[in-house]
Amino acid sequence: MANDINANHKAAATARDQAADKAQTKERYAKVYTIVSGKGGAGKTTVCSNLGMALSLLGKKVLLIDSDIGLKNLDVVMGLEEYVTNDIAGCVAGKVKFSSAAVQDPRVSSLFVIAASQSLDKSQLTPKQMGLFCHELMKDFDYILIDAPAGIENGFACAIAPATHALIVVTPEHASLRNADRIAGLMEANGILPKNISVIVNKIEAHLIADSIALDPDEMQKTLALPIAAQIPFDYDIISSNFKKRPVVLNGRSLAAKIFVNIARMIDGEKVEPIVVKKLSVFDRLFNIFSR
Ligand SMILES: Nc1ncnc2c1ncn2[C@@H]1O[C@H](COP(=O)(O)OP(=O)(O)OP(=O)(O)O)[C@@H](O)[C@H]1O
Ligand SMILES: [Mg+2]
Repeated sequence: MANDINANHKAAATARDQAADKAQTKERYAKVYTIVSGKGGAGKTTVCSNLGMALSLLGKKVLLIDSDIGLKNLDVVMGLEEYVTNDIAGCVAGKVKFSSAAVQDPRVSSLFVIAASQSLDKSQLTPKQMGLFCHELMKDFDYILIDAPAGIENGFACAIAPATHALIVVTPEHASLRNADRIAGLMEANGILPKNISVIVNKIEAHLIADSIALDPDEMQKTLALPIAAQIPFDYDIISSNFKKRPVVLNGRSLAAKIFVNIARMIDGEKVEPIVVKKLSVFDRLFNIFSR
């Protein structure tokens, strides 16, 4: 698999390296973050939509790209579905410029989204095309965030082709943890520097950790070669905001919103204290046992 991706990636990697060279100059050149996970449902789209919103609220110009071809997620959870007139399918067919497929978020003018296509077959988008599409827009944005499909197939190869950075979303389970190092290996084989790859642990539930049926992020860190950049609890506000198609970051009072803003600040180079998901105290644990 790594060899296949390697073969496909040469043009995209060249484009990315040229971009990295330009980034040394003072021109605007986007950092391209790909958000991936081995397992489906880990929270990639949630992280992508909220991190994008948080970065744009910090004043950054941000483009979100849904590379989950064949499905449509990102524009839907962002509440932007009705604004989408062009998507990646038009760009692949050569009918639309990639920049023309970007929809501006009416709530935050510096946030743009390119939707995936339900009509396009997964294999029609190639890593080379994805690399060239992104390269075209790197000078126009501070950040490009790519919401990858689950797994390590062609969609993954397309999503990582233009990436300079990666966030691997994992849940506190053994299989998810094991996948993270494997995914990081594939990324490194495709030229993403290890220092630019980190992990976000999502859907942490303190009571499951206390019952020893979910992994503790501190224990996860001991076995992971990569740094855990952020912890996100399993959170009612996230479910509700995804359902209401309004990123939770717009609900500034929620803990989840604070966590996403914190991650955005960290990505943007600020020194911030990571927000750690609270563990249950002995008293909480006893209370839980006796209230069963
Ligand atoms: N921290 C969280 N707390 C509670 N629910 C969450 C959290 N993060 C994500 N979810 C929920 O989990 C489900 C999957 O999330 P999401 O769509 O972001 O995952 P994904 O990795 O993009 O999935 P896919 O692999 O299908 O693209 C959604 O219903 C979402 O609302
Ligand atoms: Mg998704």
